Amino acid sequence: MIKRKIGNSGIEASVIALGTWVMGGWMWGGADERESINAIHASLDCGVDLIDTAPVYGFGVSEEIVGKALLGRRDKAVLATKCGLRWDLEKGDFHFHSDGFGVTKEPSKIKVFKYLGPESITFEVEESLRRLQTDYIDLYQTHWQESTTKIEDTMACLLKLKDDGKIRAIGVSNASVGQMREYGEIDSDQEKYNMFTRMIETNGNLDYCINTNTAVLAYSPLAQGLLTGKTLEPKKYNNGDLRINSPLFKSENLLKVKMFCEEILPFAEEHSCNIGQLVLAWTHSRPGITHLLCGARNPEQAVENSKAGSIVLSKDELYRIDDTFKSCFDQQ
Ligand SMILES: NC(=O)c1ccc[n+]([C@@H]2O[C@H](COP(=O)([O-])OP(=O)(O)OC[C@H]3O[C@@H](n4cnc5c(N)ncnc54)[C@H](OP(=O)(O)O)[C@@H]3O)[C@@H](O)[C@H]2O)c1
Repeated sequence: MIKRKIGNSGIEASVIALGTWVMGGWMWGGADERESINAIHASLDCGVDLIDTAPVYGFGVSEEIVGKALLGRRDKAVLATKCGLRWDLEKGDFHFHSDGFGVTKEPSKIKVFKYLGPESITFEVEESLRRLQTDYIDLYQTHWQESTTKIEDTMACLLKLKDDGKIRAIGVSNASVGQMREYGEIDSDQEKYNMFTRMIETNGNLDYCINTNTAVLAYSPLAQGLLTGKTLEPKKYNNGDLRINSPLFKSENLLKVKMFCEEILPFAEEHSCNIGQLVLAWTHSRPGITHLLCGARNPEQAVENSKAGSIVLSKDELYRIDDTFKSCFDQQ
């Protein structure tokens, strides 16, 4: 397993990380707690030590599951969670409505706000520590940025938590370069990055992170499972599953994914790996991308994804896989 530093924090973590959003069930059509815990244990056993969660994933459920799974194994994990999305307080910027299963366009019973006020973070960190059954968080990230709190006030609060030993490193997520500059010394930036979504290559985030030695934690590296190549026919998802309305999972795109998978199969065979593992290896080889947050809902997926952490592709392979992707999806 390749390991990389999380910014200047002195913390080293596996290039393949485990994302636990799906384990909260919310927005993913439900999840099985036992399978989730087994997936966390299997990840640790395979050398995946970075585990990413957030309070909003299942409104506390994902953090609670991670807490249960890490009982007696806390020292084996680099634990990352987040703050700044409140469903129990109407303050900051309104983000979305939820019916408890997924995000709804219409007003519903749950209202989620983006809020990074210091008093809110001070409350949230205690809630996370309680749910995670630990007394420190390795990487604490602001989940989404908002317009009602000065970043310097948020940062002062985060630095105080660090001084107090409650968190070891500070990260942001879904942030612009300007916002990262305002934060100052951060260790990581968590952004969506996969073969389909490469915005951080052009919006300045990647360059900024490379130049400031900030780790980039790529989320949705498998495009929500699509890039494993397993979903090549339209599928019926459970209520609330975010893939129901995703253009990525529409028949027309699935046909292109199928073509792409067929074309890159020889590269996978060359490395004795499958399509998903090849895609993950390609993704963690991109300049500036330091860690991949791979979601997994069972131990089989977790083990499979972990293996991508030791696959090294040549420059020529990286170029040809990218070229194939671009030709299948008509991208320049
Ligand atoms: N900061 C943010 O705003 C933000 C946003 C999104 C995600 N994240 C983080 O990034 C993590 C990963 O993102 P993600 O969950 O959106 O997407 P992902 O990793 O691209 O996809 C995860 C899903 O793909 C399927 N899958 C994974 N491994 C597989 C395998 N080996 N074989 C077959 N299917 C497999 C599973 O779904 P099925 O079994 O249901 O098909 C799994 O839930 C999250 O858990 C979270 O930690 C952060």
